[in-house]
Amino acid sequence: MNIFHVSAECYPIAKVGGLADVVGALPKYQTLLQQKVKVVVPKYKTSYVTQRKFKNVFKGNLKLGQKTYPFTVDTDPTNELGYELYLIDIPPFFGSANVYEWGQDAERFVTFQIAFLNWLIESKQFPDIIHIHDHHTGLIPFMLKFAHAYKSLSRVPTFLTIHNAQYHGDFGFEKLYLLPEFEHNKIGFLEWNGHINPLASAIKCAWQVSTVSPSYLEEMSFAANGLEDLLRHERPKSIGVLNGIDVDVWNPQSDSFLVQNYSTRSFKKGKEANKAALCEQFNLDPTKPLFAFIGRLVGEKGADLLPHMCSIVLNDFHQQVNILILGSGDPEVESHLQKLMPIYKGNYNAYIGYNEQVSHQIYAGADFLLMPSRVEPCGLNQMYALRYGTVPIVRRTGGLKDTIIDIGDFGYGICHDQASVEDVVYSIGRAIGLYKDEENMDKVIKTGMKINHSWEKVANTYLEVYKELIVKTADSW
Ligand code: ADP
Ligand code: GLC
Repeated sequence: MNIFHVSAECYPIAKVGGLADVVGALPKYQTLLQQKVKVVVPKYKTSYVTQRKFKNVFKGNLKLGQKTYPFTVDTDPTNELGYELYLIDIPPFFGSANVYEWGQDAERFVTFQIAFLNWLIESKQFPDIIHIHDHHTGLIPFMLKFAHAYKSLSRVPTFLTIHNAQYHGDFGFEKLYLLPEFEHNKIGFLEWNGHINPLASAIKCAWQVSTVSPSYLEEMSFAANGLEDLLRHERPKSIGVLNGIDVDVWNPQSDSFLVQNYSTRSFKKGKEANKAALCEQFNLDPTKPLFAFIGRLVGEKGADLLPHMCSIVLNDFHQQVNILILGSGDPEVESHLQKLMPIYKGNYNAYIGYNEQVSHQIYAGADFLLMPSRVEPCGLNQMYALRYGTVPIVRRTGGLKDTIIDIGDFGYGICHDQASVEDVVYSIGRAIGLYKDEENMDKVIKTGMKINHSWEKVANTYLEVYKELIVKTADSW
């Protein structure tokens, strides 16, 4: 099959969150299953991009209203990422390293999608499947179905994966001029609640919809930031497929960011060495359990609970624990977390920002990973934590519910039901109990490390669904 993934993010080219991890890994595993897989992302000027040489494969023009913009498509001839990578550059839209630019993303991602389709048309490519991810590429199914310029591609099956239904990328109808001419009586396929809503449009127009865990598929029908009715309506064409992880990138046995590599057999010494280095770097006490949080500091992740939770835990269990936070987001949460640093010096630290290397070091060096998420469509952090022998403490929601079994049920994590300070503090109490019972703690860690969440297990599920869609295309001729 000739498969195109089109996305705003892809690790290691440009990453903000888990979307990048998925788009950077699934295509590699699909390629290993003998498919021809291409990943198309904007050519942001991230360090990955600026430090490499790419080969130009196409030069074209696109129209945005009255204006014409030249664009280029480059590829990496080495295929070093394990799939074919294509980078679309449209000056002046992707001139910086920023993946998202507040207030400009409607224009940026509409041009990206138009450039992608123009490239297909003009270079006479006819994919078997176009797999789009989230709202940034959500207008492609509509344009394929109803825009005059792309009629010859209208039978290409489109597959939408919703990584997060909270974000729709909606914008006002005053920007309708951005879109290429289309059958005007189909305008309703763009609209939701009086706006052009790319995620809603993709849910309506894509041949297939998936989301990133079975539980989130259920939850979306009741909590999707206003799209609940639509998702219920389109449920017959929707499935929940749990994400996998890239076990080459996330491997404690070979991870070059770690001070010492380790396996399920050598985890005790390995984790000890990584914890010592981490505690030294962040002025923490290596003899105490280390609780960590890694993620976007936003309400969905329960990040607003962290400052109060940290104060309670650091007061109540004074000097019995360490807490380390890595993240950025809501400025108020960032500032609260920073204010705690001088108060709990020696047992608490916060790195406000984004740092891939430090994240790997935390997965390896921490004892427990906190994920008090309100919304978690899948969550990859808990799977990385398991593989690195760090016990996840999660709220039972979405993918967290689907991946973590509580130690009370002979599992390898600690689960709570509410996204509340009380529930997290209670879970931390349970975790301290587990930490003190060394034999049991080791057993829990080992069980978690042995769980296989590799994409290898999941990649084929997508291929099966693609095949069904391709059969439908043939039937419709
Ligand atoms: P989401 O995509 O909702 O942010 P996921 O759990 O799917 O959540 O994926 C988050 C990804 O981003 C993981 O790879 C995690 O390690 C990474 N990450 C999040 N915040 C940071 C940060 N501040 N620094 C480094 N990596 C981070
Ligand atoms: C989104 C979700 C997260 C998921 C990721 C990858 O960012 O918030 O839960 O793991 O996408 O699918």
